[in-house]
Amino acid sequence: MEKTILVTGCSTGIGRHCALRLKETGWRVLATVRKPEDVRTLQAQGLESFVLDLDSSESVQAGFEQAMSLTGGRLDALFNNGAYGQPGAVEDLSRDVLRAQFETNLFGWIELTNLVIPVMRRQQRGRIVMNSSVLGLVAMKYRGAYNASKFALEGITDTYRQELHGSGICVSLIEPGPITSAFRQNALIAFTRNIDATHSVHAETYSGVLSRLEAGEEEGSAFTLPPEAVFKALQSALTARCPRARYYVTFPTYLLGYLRRLLPARWLDAVLRRAAEKENGT
Ligand SMILES: NC(=O)c1ccc[n+]([C@@H]2O[C@H](COP(=O)([O-])OP(=O)(O)OC[C@H]3O[C@@H](n4cnc5c(N)ncnc54)[C@H](OP(=O)(O)O)[C@@H]3O)[C@@H](O)[C@H]2O)c1
Repeated sequence: MEKTILVTGCSTGIGRHCALRLKETGWRVLATVRKPEDVRTLQAQGLESFVLDLDSSESVQAGFEQAMSLTGGRLDALFNNGAYGQPGAVEDLSRDVLRAQFETNLFGWIELTNLVIPVMRRQQRGRIVMNSSVLGLVAMKYRGAYNASKFALEGITDTYRQELHGSGICVSLIEPGPITSAFRQNALIAFTRNIDATHSVHAETYSGVLSRLEAGEEEGSAFTLPPEAVFKALQSALTARCPRARYYVTFPTYLLGYLRRLLPARWLDAVLRRAAEKENGT
């Protein structure tokens, strides 16, 4: 029988690529997006699509119900993916800006997952895959809100894994490093909207942050991979008999994942500070 997966954040980047590739490889894909205009674009590409905005409980509930009515109350897999990066030094983040980051990147994911779990418990099987980040393993300067949301996701997912042990539901994390997508464009929007760069003590650094974000993705960079690399990890998490807890994607993830186990905190800080300074040209 054809298996069904619900994917969030399919308008661009990793979500869109994985939705299309999953369909190609035989899955029935419910490709959800935040904006109605993106529903039409995905439908034109042959995907089943509807709105699911992670910032709104009503939308999460309605999206889940739509999925259930389309599948007759079944779901084989969930790929939690939709998120954004809020750049800015922690001291420049208001409570509301930090809350908004968690609403999208964490609370919406948990709310949706908690709706899906009873369905999978009834089936006595299911796969839940969380698209985390290398920044869920190590923290970098000026990305505190995003770091915190992904660190929290790591903690929640480790908890889910233990609580769901024996239920037939497997939960995995994917840990991508740099991937070509619209992530930087969307981070630039969040930065410009929410950070008062001119009046910040970090004003000088922010001009470097801005140039990095405005430059977009580093196409062809030795470290940056296309979204297909994430799809391969997703495929393993969905099909392996015993999926891994974590799937590393890109060289920076392997390197930093290794260094965080090896180095004392101060040494790791120095490596990460250097990496951020190099990126921002400061
Ligand atoms: N690209 C990277 O280098 C990288 C590295 C590590 C991890 N990741 C993770 O990969 C995932 C996908 O990101 P991406 O790189 O593909 O970036 P992207 O191209 O910016 O895609 C992000 C997707 O999330 C959606 N989204 C944002 N807010 C949402 C909300 N409130 N409700 C539902 N969807 C929402 C966006 O929709 P809109 O178009 O409507 O905003 C978009 O479809 C994220 O979880 C990200 O943290 C990315």
